[in-house]
Amino acid sequence: MVKTNVLSKIRSFNGINRPIYVLAGLAFLISVATLAKFNYITPLRFSDRFCNSHGSFEGDGYNIGSQMRKTIESAIFKIHQEMDDLKALEASSAAPSSDSSASGSMFRHVAFLADVLSLIQSVHMELPSFEERFVADHPLKQRNGDPGEHFMREEIKKYIKIKPNRLGKQNFMGANGTFTSIGHACFAMKKDLEEYMDYDVGEICNDDWRLAQKLMVHGCDPLPRRRCFSRAPQLYHKPFPINESLWKLPDNRNVRWGQYKCKNFACLASNTTARKGFFKCTDCFNLTHHESPRWVNRGEIDPETNQTADFSIQEVLEIKPGEMRVGLDFSIGTGTFAARMRERNVTIVTATINLGAPFNEMISLRGLVPLYLTVNQRLPFFDSTLDMIHTTRFLDGWIDLILLDFVLFDWDRVLRPGGLLWIDGFFCLKEDLGDYIEAFKALRYRRHKWVVVPKRDKDDKEVFFSAVLEKPPRPFR
Ligand SMILES: *[C@@H]1O[C@H](CO)[C@@H](O)[C@H](O)[C@H]1NC(C)=O
Ligand SMILES: *[C@@H]1O[C@H](CO)[C@@H](O)[C@H](O)[C@H]1NC(C)=O
Ligand SMILES: *[C@@H]1O[C@H](CO)[C@@H](O)[C@H](O)[C@H]1NC(C)=O
Ligand SMILES: *[C@@H]1O[C@H](CO)[C@@H](O)[C@H](O)[C@H]1NC(C)=O
Ligand SMILES: *[C@@H]1O[C@H](CO)[C@@H](O)[C@H](O)[C@H]1NC(C)=O
Ligand SMILES: *[C@@H]1O[C@H](CO)[C@@H](O)[C@H](O)[C@H]1NC(C)=O
Repeated sequence: MVKTNVLSKIRSFNGINRPIYVLAGLAFLISVATLAKFNYITPLRFSDRFCNSHGSFEGDGYNIGSQMRKTIESAIFKIHQEMDDLKALEASSAAPSSDSSASGSMFRHVAFLADVLSLIQSVHMELPSFEERFVADHPLKQRNGDPGEHFMREEIKKYIKIKPNRLGKQNFMGANGTFTSIGHACFAMKKDLEEYMDYDVGEICNDDWRLAQKLMVHGCDPLPRRRCFSRAPQLYHKPFPINESLWKLPDNRNVRWGQYKCKNFACLASNTTARKGFFKCTDCFNLTHHESPRWVNRGEIDPETNQTADFSIQEVLEIKPGEMRVGLDFSIGTGTFAARMRERNVTIVTATINLGAPFNEMISLRGLVPLYLTVNQRLPFFDSTLDMIHTTRFLDGWIDLILLDFVLFDWDRVLRPGGLLWIDGFFCLKEDLGDYIEAFKALRYRRHKWVVVPKRDKDDKEVFFSAVLEKPPRPFR
């Protein structure tokens, strides 16, 4: 508004001898800046509180910059007012009787002001805005410059840029802005991320969830949001009602099959499909034979030890009758654990990624909650909020011991006191078992169940470990 107003004013007073006024304008500008520097103009003190807390050179630079900006803003305002007053005066005295020399001098006066105004405004635009500086001490913005500069693609820069709140106030969350961040490995995967963010705003995104998952798995997690429409199945049919969906293979039309080896659920469920594109949980789509007995019966009994690594849901829930209500299943699977728990009125969220097959789609089409989460991320739950965490086929002998520690402590964080951690068929090499067991022992949980069973399929070199552990109360800490 202001800008066009000024431009029109400048235009309407064209043709005046400019250079003199430009010089005069510069002189005015310098005097304004000088005044600002020495605090001769008073309405500037608002920012001192902010800056004094820094006391650094940069803080002082900001102090002066922001004072200058304010001063210039008030100067601009005054000039606008003066120009408006003069225009009004001119309009009221536009009678034919008015004396032409008075009108001429007023004309020159207004032209002078318009020139000064345009000069001041050009300086004003160069100064860092108050809003930008308002969130300046956030780590994302410090010393090493703007992380967005690392990327060529404008969409990434825009996403990373700190978004100051409008009106320059704190928002209801107590922050001065919104800090949309990305995983630091995104910087190492610049090329992939730029490909991922290559789209036209408001158009349809590429069919690139695999690229997204690759980025996430390799630590570019969180990924930036995008402003394009993700691709959906072409003809989505309404899902089966909940009393049917839990145990029925979903409608093939409700999945985009393009990036999977199998192109329908029958292929995934069949025990004759040779290569499904994934090896963990190859039978997990076979609901009738493979999935339905899981956690219902006790599993296979080891003939020598007369033990099994598979506990039933029944026996685990009996540890704490009626107390298990909400939980997390951190596994590779199609949600069968959550389905069985649902039948017992326990709400389980199933965290998994799509390893070569539509695991997340399957879970949701069964009427359960899929949580699309990598092992890289802290769990999105608050402390002491879950009654139970169950895990199977996920934590295995491949996992780094330090990582296992971080994962277990994070799980401990979200489990409530008295909550249960169900380690279900953790397997590893016999010689590694001691190290892993130490990690579980370090939690100092109460042991309800604890078994080690030889795994018979690989020359007896591996073992299964299963346990149900209870988080103790820690009242004195
Ligand atoms: C947020 O703004 C307030 C002024 O409203 C200021 O006191 C505070 O230091 C700012 N916080 C950050 C982190 O910039
Ligand atoms: C599911 O519920 C609907 C009505 O609520 C019923 O008509 C249908 O027969 C039920 N299906 C099964 C498999 O129980
Ligand atoms: C599930 O597996 C069983 C045997 O493992 C097989 O007979 C059956 O056909 C499979 N189900 C489907 C839907 O392919
Ligand atoms: C599939 O399961 C059936 C039994 O349901 C079995 O006879 C057949 O050998 C299995 N096929 C393969 C390839 O495992
Ligand atoms: C195996 O264990 C079960 C209970 O866990 C017991 O009833 C059964 O007698 C045991 N069998 C042998 C051969 O030890
Ligand atoms: C689950 O809740 C429903 C409705 O509240 C109830 O009818 C059913 O018996 C419950 N099932 C179990 C296993 O507690």
